[in-house]
Amino acid sequence: MAIYKVGVVGAGLMGAGIAQTCAQSGYEVVVREINQQLLDKGLARIYGAWDMMASKDKLTHRQVDENRTRIRGTLDIADFAECDLVIEAVVENMEEKLRLFPMLDHVLKPDALILSNTSSLNITQMGAVTKRQDKICGLHFFNPAPVMQLVEVVQTISTSQETIETVKQFAISLGKKPVIAKDTAGFIVNFLLIPYLLAAIRMLENGMATRDDIDTAMKLGCGYPMGPFTLLDYVGLDTTMWAAEAIYEEYKDPLYAPPPLLRRMVISGMYGRKSGKGFYDYQ
Ligand code: 3HC
Repeated sequence: MAIYKVGVVGAGLMGAGIAQTCAQSGYEVVVREINQQLLDKGLARIYGAWDMMASKDKLTHRQVDENRTRIRGTLDIADFAECDLVIEAVVENMEEKLRLFPMLDHVLKPDALILSNTSSLNITQMGAVTKRQDKICGLHFFNPAPVMQLVEVVQTISTSQETIETVKQFAISLGKKPVIAKDTAGFIVNFLLIPYLLAAIRMLENGMATRDDIDTAMKLGCGYPMGPFTLLDYVGLDTTMWAAEAIYEEYKDPLYAPPPLLRRMVISGMYGRKSGKGFYDYQ
């Protein structure tokens, strides 16, 4: 199946990054938000990234203009009607996804694909509220979406092989390396990454080492680009907690139980970089 026009639902950190990646790879993109303020913020993030790329000679000014003409913001879900593929990147809340999927199913062409960027929620459940379960799968990007090379293509028990092949080719056309994962909580990366991040928080809670020493140790000792607390702030403490809860819900393995400190920081609005404060202060 040929993909020409792509829809992205949500223009937050991930949605904006995904829309940016698709537009700069040559696709016509429609990106939808729930109000004008959020839409303007998402589009500003994308335009800012292209200006930054132009300032580093990674894009010409002409390419920036061409990218801009390929992307259109909307508040109306009906504007996805002509899309061949829609990627949802709304808040990590199953109720929200279960409200969205039937609406997309209703608006989209019968052969259009619906992909979820969820990091750990059950995609089979999202597909089950549509009449196109064979055309539903996960396409999980990593933050920052325009830079990170990996995407996880997540196959539910109902996703057809044809859908998986189309989505793999689509991912390659975005310059990404796809890996295939089954629809089990956490897929590949978060199943391994979340226990590591939570263990770092438990070390801090228990006074085993300082924040800075834990970050330095993992950066220099393991060659990771960021230590766990820098990464937690980068990914978002709220996002990490939702992912941990979803995996814990599936396996009831204490490795995935959010530590008390994480829960309290999220309750206090300390989400990391995006809120100005997390384990570090960004104000
Ligand atoms: N668009 C285009 N380019 C961008 C960009 C954007 N939105 N954001 C950053 N870049 C570019 C920068 O311009 C820079 O390019 P240059 O090297 O040519 O100058 C390059 O990306 C690197 O950025 P920086 O120079 O600002 O910073 P770093 O060299 O420190 O790299 C990083 C930043 C790529 C984020 C690196 O620190 C890293 O890889 N960190 C780990 C990130 C990670 O692990 N992400 C996965 C998190 S898990 C997840 O997302 C799953 C979820 O479900 C929880």
